[in-house]
Amino acid sequence: MNNYELPELPYEYNDLVPFITKEQLEIHHQKHHQSYVNNANSILTKVDEARENNTELDQKAIAKELSFNISGHILHSLFWLNMKKPQENNLPNNNILGLINKNFSNFERFKKEFSNTALSVEGSGWSALAYDNIADRLIIIQIEKHNVNLVPKLNLILVLDVWEHAYYLDYKNDRAKYIENFWSAIDWNEVNTRIQ
Ligand SMILES: [Fe+2]
Repeated sequence: MNNYELPELPYEYNDLVPFITKEQLEIHHQKHHQSYVNNANSILTKVDEARENNTELDQKAIAKELSFNISGHILHSLFWLNMKKPQENNLPNNNILGLINKNFSNFERFKKEFSNTALSVEGSGWSALAYDNIADRLIIIQIEKHNVNLVPKLNLILVLDVWEHAYYLDYKNDRAKYIENFWSAIDWNEVNTRIQ
């Protein structure tokens, strides 16, 4: 069996400037994401040890902590990859453009819905665009914390972290500005890859 590992970023820490500064990205990746990786691994070690020693665990607490930390790790891993160096007029292309137009009428409508989903997260959470194979459509979901309101088997193709730890150094409490700037840094090629 494998341990969870912190993935390396596919770019340098200062590559997301001016969306996210080097300092903010470093803390987010090296401290916050790392802590979910460490926690997930240590919980699983605890589970393994309890099995070896045949001791009892608080299964409810274990299940809750595992869900939170593994989801945190997976979401952050997706988040790093669906960003790239910011640019002006960073618009969707190819398959995702067609799907957005088909599902949301146009890009501006999609952008508004996704942004408002992110803005209205109470406390900490995520806005995510998912593809549902069953309904054959794009669905926007709002994840509270890392693991509440998730829908099983939806394929997450674009995620935005709106925990304060993602933006507080750069934006203080201005989540709306952070969300607005996110649009310049989306890697649409990665989103297209996830659809396939
Ligand atoms: Fe985060």
